[in-house]
Amino acid sequence: MPMSEHFERRLEPILAEVAEHFGTPFHIYDEQGMLASVERLSAAFATLPFHEYFAVKALPNLTVLRILREHGLGMECSSIAELELAADCGARGEEVFFTSNNTTHAEFAAALATDAIVNVDDITLIDKLPGVPSVCSFRFNPGPERLGDRLIGSPMEAKFGLRRDQLQDAFARMRELGAERFGLHAMIASNVSTVQPLLATIAMLLALEDGLSRELGIELEFINAGGGLGIPYRPTDHSLDVHALGLGAAQLLKAHEERTGRLPKLFFEAGRYITGPSGVLVTRVINRMSKWREYAGVDAGIAALLRTAFYPDAYHHLTLHGDHGERPLQRIDVVGSLCENNDKFAIQRELPELRVGDLLLIHDTGAHGLAMGFNYNGRLRPQELLLRVDGSVELIRRREEVRRDYFATLQFEPDVLMAAGESAREPIVAQVS
Ligand SMILES: Cc1ncc(COP(=O)(O)O)c(C=O)c1O
Repeated sequence: MPMSEHFERRLEPILAEVAEHFGTPFHIYDEQGMLASVERLSAAFATLPFHEYFAVKALPNLTVLRILREHGLGMECSSIAELELAADCGARGEEVFFTSNNTTHAEFAAALATDAIVNVDDITLIDKLPGVPSVCSFRFNPGPERLGDRLIGSPMEAKFGLRRDQLQDAFARMRELGAERFGLHAMIASNVSTVQPLLATIAMLLALEDGLSRELGIELEFINAGGGLGIPYRPTDHSLDVHALGLGAAQLLKAHEERTGRLPKLFFEAGRYITGPSGVLVTRVINRMSKWREYAGVDAGIAALLRTAFYPDAYHHLTLHGDHGERPLQRIDVVGSLCENNDKFAIQRELPELRVGDLLLIHDTGAHGLAMGFNYNGRLRPQELLLRVDGSVELIRRREEVRRDYFATLQFEPDVLMAAGESAREPIVAQVS
């Protein structure tokens, strides 16, 4: 099921008042639901040396990050802004896992400054590192050995990670530069709902660990199987069985330990699994339109939640606040206001007949939701609210404003360059005869 019954039971009775108080649209997150996910994941891997690094890109809100940090999660970051968010929520050193790609000098420098674990995505980047990380990892791309998925694509076409034939040289070079502590990372697929592909990634990383130990004498301290733990977006989707994932992972790691005498720590960097189902985008119907199709225009658009327009087959469940099944069903497109025809949250979906003023809940927006928002067409990103465990609702990000935010980067000190060798030219004025 999308949005948990528990979240729904707590949100529905207060939603009208929340919408009245804060105005729409907004993403609202369920603290209790997120903590329940953290708990489930920790319990599933309790028998292993295990650590979860929350993928900051999924929900880069400081209040949420602080809660997750307080409950023991590390932070997986891929940019300077995310590193700063991690620092602000109190994650330092090995509690930060830095996985960027096409990385700049400045990004590496920022990661090294916080003493993060640095996960290097390409062999050419080793000699561009502005220092030697205390703990260094490489991202592996298995190419034809694995299938990948529709979101990330085939590993053969993915821009991430080192090929198998580059790995040994990479580790050897890092050791030559002075690195002493190592790990290995791979993320092959996204939103995976069965345990098998995730276990295959763990098995693959363990086999590589064995090879690196035999051939280079390098003992990996950890393997990081990435994010990609799936959630059910559609009512018919299955939940990922993290308990079974934990059991399967334990079997693989214990067998590896018996065979080799080594037990690397297992890391995940799940984002979606932790916060995805604990968020909804609440938006109001502002126009009902009959064109060649029926349309409900809402006061949010894909600038606040891009997934349905960005990924093939992405689906977000939609429900009508206060619906008790009394309205007839109608096939409809639910749309925002962008001048783009893919600005749609639902296409030809059967929903209770929608009316102007209705509140709609767009489910599972707690990960890669507002985080992927943008400003095209001068559309501003909405606010974020948090439904606390005690039932209170707190503003945790204000809505953007035109002058304060959209215009912010248009206010700057004048800076004009006349390139060397160029002399001031007469401005070209159109000749009018
Ligand atoms: C390197 C990396 N790690 C972790 C994640 C988190 O993925 P998810 O939120 O699906 O768990 C992503 C997602 O894009 C990623 O690129």
